[in-house]
Amino acid sequence: MFFPQFLSGAVEFTKNGAQDGDPGLVMQFIKNLARKSALLSRIERMRLISEQYLAPSGYWHSYPADSNGNAVPWFTYPAIQFLNGVVQPSWKVFEYGSGYSTVFWNARCALTVSVEHDESWFNHLKALHPEFDVRLVKEGFDVSRGYLEDLVARFEAESFELPTLPDRQSNIDHGLLNREFANYAAQVTEFPKGFFDVIVVDGMARCLCLYAAAEYIADEGVIVLDNSDRWQYNDLQDYLVRSKGFKRIDFDGLGPLRAAGWITSIFFKSAAFPICVETRRDRGSGDLG
Ligand SMILES: C[S@@+](CC[C@H](N)C(=O)[O-])C[C@H]1O[C@@H](n2cnc3c(N)ncnc32)[C@H](O)[C@@H]1O
Repeated sequence: MFFPQFLSGAVEFTKNGAQDGDPGLVMQFIKNLARKSALLSRIERMRLISEQYLAPSGYWHSYPADSNGNAVPWFTYPAIQFLNGVVQPSWKVFEYGSGYSTVFWNARCALTVSVEHDESWFNHLKALHPEFDVRLVKEGFDVSRGYLEDLVARFEAESFELPTLPDRQSNIDHGLLNREFANYAAQVTEFPKGFFDVIVVDGMARCLCLYAAAEYIADEGVIVLDNSDRWQYNDLQDYLVRSKGFKRIDFDGLGPLRAAGWITSIFFKSAAFPICVETRRDRGSGDLG
């Protein structure tokens, strides 16, 4: 109703302005009209984006979920879509940083082991899913475990640039402390090398976890790093690609709960893993323009 009323008002106004012989007033009105119609077309486009992209992605849920409310990892939508296409029931998954992703992997894969540093989040998840293998590992470096000392010594010998923020809590929140979370990062070393098909790095000590993941992932496996656009993880990503022979694909875009985009990256050595992806689209899908 608003737009036709607006238009008829515009016609009246233009007629009156022209009769009054004030071309400045008419021009002003036309400019206002153009501005308002540009705004309306933006609002309409935003409505369409909401209806055609955000709602089918599950964006309007208050937790990371698809449009049906099923849990998805808190990764970008392009990464979630890609993983949905390649995930295999036989996969064994190890994840640093539990969440709705833990529900996602447990529902689809043969085995999921998650490490969590936050006791209240751990209790919350265990209360909902006592059957999940989630391990609470808080900040700490148990020097009595020799292999842990060895892991950290090798990591530190590489002299990576490991930038931190001025305050401790921000460093924890963004996974920037490494040595301090050595027990957490070393959890994967409790399993044989090559055991896991997927290692997800989305929690504490991301640089040390990436370092360990590069050693422990299966030859044909994938490492998923969320928030890989953070420059603080530069050196480790460089190390994976230049020294350890991984390739990286970035999945850049919007994702659950946030208004700004970010990047989830997948590292792999063998391109065999996406071979299982469905090659045919559903009949009727896609836009012919
Ligand atoms: C980036 S989140 C890990 C998210 C998880 N990998 C996922 O994709 O759902 C890092 C930490 O935040 C906490 N966390 C996980 N999911 C959360 C959520 N939906 N809201 C708030 N905190 C969350 C947990 O302590 C977790 O280890």
